[in-house]
Amino acid sequence: MSEIIAAQDLVRWRQWAKTQAIATDISVEEVDWFLQGLTTVDRLSLRLGIREAVQSQVSLVELSRLWERRCQEKIPVQYLVGKTPWRNFELVVSPAVLIPRPETEYLIDLAQASHHDLHAGYWVDLGTGSGAIALGLADSFPDGKIHAVDQSAAALEVARKNAIAYGLQDRIQFYQGSWWEPLQHLRGKVAGMVSNPPYIPAALLPDLQPEVYRHEPHSALDGGIDGLADLRILVNEAPDYLISGGIWIIEMMRGQGEAVAQLLADNGHYTQIQIIHDFAGGDRYVSAQRI
Ligand SMILES: C[S@@+](CC[C@H](N)C(=O)[O-])C[C@H]1O[C@@H](n2cnc3c(N)ncnc32)[C@H](O)[C@@H]1O
Repeated sequence: MSEIIAAQDLVRWRQWAKTQAIATDISVEEVDWFLQGLTTVDRLSLRLGIREAVQSQVSLVELSRLWERRCQEKIPVQYLVGKTPWRNFELVVSPAVLIPRPETEYLIDLAQASHHDLHAGYWVDLGTGSGAIALGLADSFPDGKIHAVDQSAAALEVARKNAIAYGLQDRIQFYQGSWWEPLQHLRGKVAGMVSNPPYIPAALLPDLQPEVYRHEPHSALDGGIDGLADLRILVNEAPDYLISGGIWIIEMMRGQGEAVAQLLADNGHYTQIQIIHDFAGGDRYVSAQRI
């Protein structure tokens, strides 16, 4: 925090930013997230009125420049402030990684619900991005051995930073490569696989919000023609790596549940195949157990 911004300047700035937000169809609440991300202003002052000067990572001019980019270029606030809350973490994010979503937090609850005998084993997070799932697993399973894979070197750099920030760098091993490929040494040893792979059918990508389509990495979104290209690999290769009774958990797009469950059933190595719904009632997760 290097700059001091006077209270009355910030009050005026906030009003200007809200007007910009309304004019460009952005939720005015984002103005406050943005301010909390880059300055020391707290939620209480934002509710009751800003009466004291705040410290800021950037000047008022730079705040305005960044906010204009939010409104005009539709850059997500999380990329502008460089961080996002996720479970009990505050994770560093950059345009090299997908911004971890609240619905993905539930994958960790599903992993925690597995048999406790599995919790001290090897757990893998395939397509780790910011490292969110790997950190969640390391935090949940103090005796677990966590291995996280991504094909993107830039994403792994962000994931490593997040692991270091929470002192989990010795608990998580990171690998660059494609899905199971860097984990040959874990064949037949893995207690649980957790993944939020790309699952959006390629033709639907341009229909996503501009924040997502224009700024989040397409390699994190594009699931091929039917959205299931990567999920098929996860279904077909996991049996070589999971122990008997090992757990397979993924997030997917609503409406893909039946197709994913069918892939698992056709594979023949899985039991306890379950389609799990999110809080809004959509099918968003599938779990299964290695026979
Ligand atoms: C939907 S994002 C999920 C990121 C993070 N796990 C999360 O939940 O926020 C999918 C991730 O899979 C990675 N990915 C895509 N293809 C891959 C592949 N062939 N092998 C490994 N990772 C891959 C992308 O780089 C991206 O980080």
